[in-house]
Amino acid sequence: MGREFDEQDPVKLYVPHRNPAGEVRSPLAPVGVFDSGIGGLTVVREIMRQMPQERLVYFGDTARLPYGSKSRSTIIRYSRQIVRFLHTKGVKAIVIACNTASSCALQTIARESSIPVIGVIYAGAVTAVKASRSGRIGIIGTQATVSSGIYPNVIRNISPEILVFQKACPLFVPLVEAGLLHDSVTDEIASRYLQELKGKYIDTLVLGCTHYPLIRSTIQRIMGDEVTLVNPAYETALELRQILEREKLLNPGTESAQDGDKYQFYVSDLAESFRDFASSILPAEAKNAQTIEIEEY
Ligand code: DGL
Repeated sequence: MGREFDEQDPVKLYVPHRNPAGEVRSPLAPVGVFDSGIGGLTVVREIMRQMPQERLVYFGDTARLPYGSKSRSTIIRYSRQIVRFLHTKGVKAIVIACNTASSCALQTIARESSIPVIGVIYAGAVTAVKASRSGRIGIIGTQATVSSGIYPNVIRNISPEILVFQKACPLFVPLVEAGLLHDSVTDEIASRYLQELKGKYIDTLVLGCTHYPLIRSTIQRIMGDEVTLVNPAYETALELRQILEREKLLNPGTESAQDGDKYQFYVSDLAESFRDFASSILPAEAKNAQTIEIEEY
């Protein structure tokens, strides 16, 4: 049996709540990773770097993004469908590589799951607390993530005296999905969004959406070098490793998987543009990316 939610130790929440008799997961099974689109690839990239032996199945919900402007109940429904799809691929653990889905659906998904499920929020919060010297931390994310208040809650749980300032940046996701990573339009919008946070004298800023590391250089330029940007992807991969080790699910790396089936990519729309983008930022090709009907799950 798994553990119930533990506010003091959120990292321990995301272990299986129930483990149906007879269900045995092999360490050789893939890890499932999902996001609303391409943003979760920033987490995949880190998992590939830290655990090159792991097989991965990625799903990007490109037909239904952005999640950030949707209601909590819709995000939970979408996440449940994706989890059901990932189960058909025999995954041994799931990483919700989306801050919005982590904010709204992680607890529900983890409680219903027979395999470990982790999100990206706790990793980002812990890293920010460690990085901040002044105790003034900024969070940028989608409207749903900011409205959920999850980052301030988790940060105050770790260190109650820290001041947290949030700003929703709803146009960042469409700009990134449109490929405008280095563009004057993105610069202009980022300047407007970040102006307010600049006045708060923060020394640390959490990129609280997995799409944002893709415009990191723009955000850093506007915030200035004195502000440390936190990308939760690195710590999320570390947390995944810890959980796989603890559950005896870490792939020992003894088999020789062909690259073709080691990494599988699925989207709900526009597989071709996803394929090109994924191949440009990952250390592996995403040639096999294909479209599926996620509403069928
Ligand atoms: N990458 C998701 C996140 O981390 C994106 C958001 C969206 O679809 O709005 O929040």
